[in-house]
Amino acid sequence: MSAQSQSPTVRTFTAGAAPQAPIGIFDSGLGGLSVLRAVRAQLPDEAILYVADSLYAPYGERDDDFIADRTLAIGEWLMGQGAKALVVACNTATAQSIALVREKLPIPLIGVEPGIKPAALQSKSRVAGVLATQATLRSARFQGLLERYAADCRFLCQPGHGLVQAVERCDVGSAELRALLRSYLEPMLDAGADTLVLGCTHYPFLDAAIRDIVGDRLALIDTSVAIARQLERVLAQHGLRTAPGAGALLPRFYSTDDGLHQQQLAASLLRIEAAVEQVRIPSRRTAGPDSRAA
Ligand code: DGL
Repeated sequence: MSAQSQSPTVRTFTAGAAPQAPIGIFDSGLGGLSVLRAVRAQLPDEAILYVADSLYAPYGERDDDFIADRTLAIGEWLMGQGAKALVVACNTATAQSIALVREKLPIPLIGVEPGIKPAALQSKSRVAGVLATQATLRSARFQGLLERYAADCRFLCQPGHGLVQAVERCDVGSAELRALLRSYLEPMLDAGADTLVLGCTHYPFLDAAIRDIVGDRLALIDTSVAIARQLERVLAQHGLRTAPGAGALLPRFYSTDDGLHQQQLAASLLRIEAAVEQVRIPSRRTAGPDSRAA
């Protein structure tokens, strides 16, 4: 299971967050909405604040310091909005900066990691593919996952160049996207893979396009449900579950760009009709006027 928490010891937080406070969820962009979907299904009474850092997506081709800087700035911003816990719904940000953010933020933190362990457990052919960002694949944390859990299973690691950008423009099925996916997946099939780890939270939105190419030859590993369950456990450990009965609230959506694609994707794929508020969340590396070039 790839979700992680403060375990093994339960840290006590004294920041004073109340159980009825919202959960903060953040991603470089729209991918974390696949985690939000699972969290809403698992914890329907919890209020959620979601930040998409779409102005700076994709993170996967940024340097490590940039990713850490943005992750910390957005975590602090969400805390400032009253978040009682933070879900870093981004494999890339988790891989690069979860340790730093955990040190700095006095609220429970859940990160996401590619599902190497479940893939190694379930692959019969002992060959599995991993699609993730370049930054995730090069991280020490990901290499550690392979060392710990791959066992005798061979993992074919493929950077998903272009896939995050496609989802960010709400493209989950164009001919260009399918051709790109085919170029990543066919070599895995040729090598005998029977399992595919979706190592980026944007990729579950491509599941239909992936299925069209691979049929049922690859079992898809998406860890969003495991993350939602882990979040539930962590909230309970800290006495931070909201009282039941509040009912399904609409999440509050924020974006660092105009939020139009976020609104469109949430409506079409999650059936959530909610406005998106544009916010400015400066960080050390983005405070200047030419922040896009940072
Ligand atoms: N959803 C992010 C992840 O899980 C995408 C990272 C990016 O922006 O490249 O890694």
